Amino acid sequence: MRIVILSLWAACIVCAQTGLKSPAAPVEQPLPFSHKKHSELGLTCKTCHKNADPGESMGIAAVSSCMGCHKTAAAESPAIKRLARHAEMKSDPVWARVYLIPSYVFFSHRRHLESGATCQTCHGPVAAQDQLRREIDISMGGCMECHVKNRARNDCNYCHEPR
Ligand code: HEC
Ligand code: HEC
Ligand code: HEC
Ligand code: HEC
Ligand code: HEC
Repeated sequence: MRIVILSLWAACIVCAQTGLKSPAAPVEQPLPFSHKKHSELGLTCKTCHKNADPGESMGIAAVSSCMGCHKTAAAESPAIKRLARHAEMKSDPVWARVYLIPSYVFFSHRRHLESGATCQTCHGPVAAQDQLRREIDISMGGCMECHVKNRARNDCNYCHEPR
C-alpha cells in the first residue's frame, strides 16, 4: 500500500513539472516497436519522421523503409514477419495515435522547430522509451502556457481561425 501511494506521489511530481494533470497510460501499438531500441542503434528522429512540406506534420516512415534492416534483422520474429507482410502488401500498420489535436486547431511542427523547440519539449524523452505514452500536456492550456512564456500570440484566432 505504502509503495503504491509513494509511486503515485512521485508520478504527480512528474506531472506537475510537465503540466499533465494525470499520467497517460502507454499506448498499445499493432507491432511492438521500441523507440529506445531503435535510438540505441543510432537512428535519429529525422530518419523516420521527415516533416515533409508544408511542414505541418512529422509523419511516420512507411514500412518499406524499415525493411532495409528487417530483411535480416530479427527476421524470424513473429512481429517482423507481420511487418514484412505489411511491406509486401504496401499497407502500413495502423499506428495508434499518442499525440492528437482536433482538426479545428492550427498547428505547424516546422514553425515550432524553427522557433527553437525540440522534440523533447513537447514529447518528452522519447529515445528512452520502449512504449510511448502522452507525457507532455498539449491541451489548449498547455499550448497557451508556452506561448505566454515565449511571448507568442494567444488570441483565439491565432490557433483557431483558418488563415
Ligand atoms: C537500422 C536498422 C533498423 C531499422 C531502419 C528499423 N529497425 Fe526495427 N530493429 C532493428 C534491430 C537490430 C532490432 C532488434 C533489436 C533488439 O532486439 O535488440 C529491431 C527490432 C524491431 C522490432 C522488435 C522485433 C522483436 O520481435 O523483437 C520491431 C517490431 C521493429 N524493429 C520494427 C521496426 C519498424 C516498424 C521500423 C520502421 C519504422 C524499423 N523497425 C526500422 C533494426 C532496425
Ligand atoms: C526507426 C524509425 C523511428 C525512429 C528512429 C523514431 N521514430 Fe518515432 N515513431 C516511429 C513509429 C513506427 C511510430 C508509431 C509507433 C509508436 O508510436 O511507437 C512512432 C511514433 C512517434 C510518436 C507518436 C506519434 C503520435 O501518434 O502522436 C512520436 C511523438 C515520435 N515517434 C517521436 C520520435 C522522436 C522524438 C524520435 C527521436 C528521438 C523518434 N520518434 C524516432 C518510428 C520511429
Ligand atoms: C511545440 C510542440 C511540438 C514539438 C516541438 C514537436 N511536436 Fe510532434 N506533435 C505535437 C502535436 C501538438 C502533435 C499532434 C498534431 C496533430 O494532431 O495534428 C504532434 C504529433 C506528432 C507526430 C504524429 C504524426 C504527426 O505528424 O502529426 C509525430 C510522429 C511527432 N509529433 C514527432 C515529433 C518529432 C520527431 C519532433 C521533433 C523533430 C516533434 N514531434 C516536435 C507537438 C510538437
Ligand atoms: C515550446 C513552446 C510552445 C508550445 C508547447 C506550443 N507553442 Fe505554438 N508557438 C510557440 C512560439 C515561440 C511561436 C512563435 C513562432 C514564430 O513566431 O515563428 C508559436 C507559434 C504558433 C502558431 C503560429 C504559427 C504559424 O504558422 O503562423 C500557432 C498556430 C501555434 N503556435 C499553435 C500552437 C498549438 C496549437 C500548440 C499546442 C498543441 C502550441 N502552439 C504549443 C511556442 C510553443
Ligand atoms: C495556443 C493555441 C490556442 C489558443 C491561443 C486558443 N486555443 Fe482553443 N484550443 C486549442 C487546442 C490545442 C484545443 C484542443 C484541446 C484538446 O482537444 O485537448 C482547443 C480547444 C478549444 C475549444 C474546444 C474545447 C472542448 O472542450 O471541446 C474551444 C471552445 C476553444 N478552444 C476556444 C478558444 C477560445 C475562445 C480562445 C481564445 C480565448 C482559444 N480557444 C485560444 C488551442 C488554442
